[in-house]
Amino acid sequence: MCGIVGYVGKRDAYEILIKGLHRLEYRGYDSAGIALISDNNDLVVYKTKGKVINLENHTADLNRSGKIGIAHTRWATHGEPNDINAHPHFSGSKSLALIHNGIIENYKPLKEELIAQGKTFVSDTDTEVLIQLIEYIQESHNCDLFTAVQMALNSVVGAYAIAIINKNDPETMIVARKGSPLIIGIGEDDFFIGSDATPIVEYTDKVIYLEEEQIAKINLKEGLKITDLKNIETTPIINKLNINISQLEKAGYEHFMLKEIFEQPESLINTLKGRLKIDTKEVKLSGIIDNVEKFRKARRIIICACGTSWHAALIGKYIIEELARIPVEVEYSSEFRYRNPIIYDDDIVIAISQSGETADTLAAIVLAKSKGAFLFGICNVVGSSIPRATHSGAYTHVGPEIGVASTKAFTAQLSTLFLIALSIAHERKTISNEYFESLVDELQTIPDKIREILKLNEQIKNFAKTFTYAKNFIYLGRGYNYPVALEGALKLKEISYIHAEGYPAAEMKHGPIALIDEELPVVVIATKNGNYDKIVSNIEEIKARKGYVISIVTKGDTQVKNISNFSFEIPDTADCFVPILSVIPLQLLSYHIATAKNRDVDQPRNLAKSVTVE
Ligand code: F6R
Repeated sequence: MCGIVGYVGKRDAYEILIKGLHRLEYRGYDSAGIALISDNNDLVVYKTKGKVINLENHTADLNRSGKIGIAHTRWATHGEPNDINAHPHFSGSKSLALIHNGIIENYKPLKEELIAQGKTFVSDTDTEVLIQLIEYIQESHNCDLFTAVQMALNSVVGAYAIAIINKNDPETMIVARKGSPLIIGIGEDDFFIGSDATPIVEYTDKVIYLEEEQIAKINLKEGLKITDLKNIETTPIINKLNINISQLEKAGYEHFMLKEIFEQPESLINTLKGRLKIDTKEVKLSGIIDNVEKFRKARRIIICACGTSWHAALIGKYIIEELARIPVEVEYSSEFRYRNPIIYDDDIVIAISQSGETADTLAAIVLAKSKGAFLFGICNVVGSSIPRATHSGAYTHVGPEIGVASTKAFTAQLSTLFLIALSIAHERKTISNEYFESLVDELQTIPDKIREILKLNEQIKNFAKTFTYAKNFIYLGRGYNYPVALEGALKLKEISYIHAEGYPAAEMKHGPIALIDEELPVVVIATKNGNYDKIVSNIEEIKARKGYVISIVTKGDTQVKNISNFSFEIPDTADCFVPILSVIPLQLLSYHIATAKNRDVDQPRNLAKSVTVE
């Protein structure tokens, strides 16, 4: 969602900010803006609807000087996406400019109070209310800006990551966070800020992750001062970033999504590295080892997640229940957090989130923690909010995922869940040593098997062109392949805008079968596992109604192939690992259908990479 970048230093801020905005484009946005304190000490704000390039064109002949500035990509919540609602927002006197991620929930009563005090507003946003409030406090209490920001933040309800610059203090930036991330980068003799590390990594690898309800004054000469909202000062911890700039480039691929699909063999090796010990036939996940008694004795595991991560969670349920024999419930974070769930103190709550910032998942675990559960996070973005809020966890270690549609993060979540299921099963002795060791061996072969599937790319590309006409798709799977059907359908709809639904194959008879005709492509994941015969019958039912069947089959299969209109073969593996292979052709199929339809694959309309509002 919205993105923040800022700079205070000795260099020209504009280039750094624009480059930063481009780095943040992947998060999803609908307008962009920039504020600079120019060399002649004017506070200028430029903003435009649409892409960052519009902002660059708009500012081409304007004054872009200045060594301090803030910039923003906005994903509209309050007020339509237009030039006026875009950030930064001025205070009434135009001395202050503010950018904001998050939502100020009590902006309406605050706005009414400010209007009663004679303030006027130009936009429909909650953000403008906040900067007007800050200035009003500054004026009415005759205090400095830092104190005014502290006081204002004490009276707002909601989530925010903010950055403010002040025309009257051109070497200072004030930033704060609650519920939305904010990172401060420490350069040689300058400072950078970002809502994530992508706009910062090019300049420094030293960063401070601002904590909840912290506010920082960044001054070029005095350095950093960080306090909480009660003005208690803290010493910040400086962390080292572990991403590099090449991970943020397309490396010759047409889209980040395709690059990330192709990265999967390598990214899985990174997820498994140091954790899957082939020589000693061990699985070592420190997050489990450190809390082994909790996992051994867990009454139940609840997994909270959204979207693609929720699909990974569903596969996690199947494998943990099958191997470790612990009951697992899978919850949409957004439902869990609002329905007063029953949580026992010997429950383990696992949060799965690529970004580590999804607002609903964060709120779900905060709730579970308050009820005494032990929290375990499976996240990709190091230092993000969810891993910081959990008791323990495992990073997926696949580097930045830039394409909005999740691909390599999904398969990394699966491999992490495989490792978790295997280690708990081993600890609880719910599977034999021989079976455990055979699964350890098999897991190690998965990256090569993915490499083999990726060779289907050209074939899938040619085949995909046929489907630009389609208005609907159905995806079917059973057992471990049912969540894959859900994921295949989600991938297609989010980037191609073709309506697609996934179902457990047997559910087809309970309604969706009414949709089947010659026009409707039905993707059936029909690999050779436990339910093979059943899925063959489901395909026969579709064929009997003249449906067009695209099947994903195990290499060497003839039965399903013969009754399908088109098939893609994937290598054989253990039943529980099938999803990590069967999803790959579906990722490619979605990608190629979407590109054949000329869709903006990496930044599909209305979507955000990191969903930081509920
Ligand atoms: C789909 C997709 C989304 C995310 C969802 C959760 O391709 O990316 O459905 O999976 O928004 O995001 P995280 O995993 O960051 O919590």
